[in-house]
Amino acid sequence: EVENPLRPRTFSEYIGQDKVKENLKIFIEAAKSRKEPLDHVLLYGPPGLGKTTLAGIVANEMGVNLRITSGPAIEKPGDLAALLTNLSPGDVLFIDEVHRLPRTVEEILYPAMEDYALDIITGKGQMAASYHLPLPHFTLIGATTRAGQLSAPLRDRFGVVLRLELYSPEELGKIVLRSAGLLHTEIEADGALEIASRSRGTPRIANRLLKRVRDFAQVMSEGVVTYHTAQIALDRLEVDELGLDSSDRRMLAAIIQNYAGGPVGLDTLAAAIGEEAITIEDVNEPYLMQIGFLTRTPRGRCATAAAYLHLGLPVPPALRGGD
Ligand code: ADE
Repeated sequence: EVENPLRPRTFSEYIGQDKVKENLKIFIEAAKSRKEPLDHVLLYGPPGLGKTTLAGIVANEMGVNLRITSGPAIEKPGDLAALLTNLSPGDVLFIDEVHRLPRTVEEILYPAMEDYALDIITGKGQMAASYHLPLPHFTLIGATTRAGQLSAPLRDRFGVVLRLELYSPEELGKIVLRSAGLLHTEIEADGALEIASRSRGTPRIANRLLKRVRDFAQVMSEGVVTYHTAQIALDRLEVDELGLDSSDRRMLAAIIQNYAGGPVGLDTLAAAIGEEAITIEDVNEPYLMQIGFLTRTPRGRCATAAAYLHLGLPVPPALRGGD
């Protein structure tokens, strides 16, 4: 793992996600007092909210090693076997994008999770041989953007299922202040809040914007991130007052201008703006729905009156009042 200095290492450094944090603390304390590994944990929610970070904190608080991999990186059963047989008792194996595990790998993961054993068949015909490999007791932490993408048998094998939520601007403001401190960057409180309120509920975006605003501050205002430098920098980065970027705005404009405000199907919309449907679902939509700019209906996506107003477009009569 590449060390990211902004990444919190303990629950006390981790801001937000209070429900998830409090529950995890209980499960960890209980497992430790029983001298057992933590049960398998599924973390789901939009990208950039701190799933990998939480896995690191869990391993740290349990006092075990963390191994990080991802669904697409594990191509065949042997890849998973190599990972699992190299774990020490109690270790945490973090599988990001766990919904993208190949089916053949997923099938050998079930007994690994349930019975801490691998049943592997190698070769074909006369050369076929099966192995039963006992494994150290480990904790699997799986991460996915949506729990619904996971196969039911895999989902059912996680004893702990936790949903991460988008952060409030106040929480993100605290994260930006903390990160600025770690980056030795002087920042004013309203500068931090300006970055926070344009970060679409996502710490990864807040930290990225902080670094870019710091560049502008260094060159334009003696290194201090003020409200004013934050505004100028974020405007130049084409991140608007609500944190929408050009792809968000293109998406809303397409719904409104090409499809009369919707409903329009996801795939049609994706083709219209040249983005992947999955990216739209995972990256753009959670925040647009959270701020009330987009609704999802059985017949497709619709822009709300607030979205028209934000883009400076006249609100159609059907959406006026009582919307
Ligand atoms: N950096 C990224 N996510 C964070 C969080 N939730 N708390 C503190 N710092 C963070």
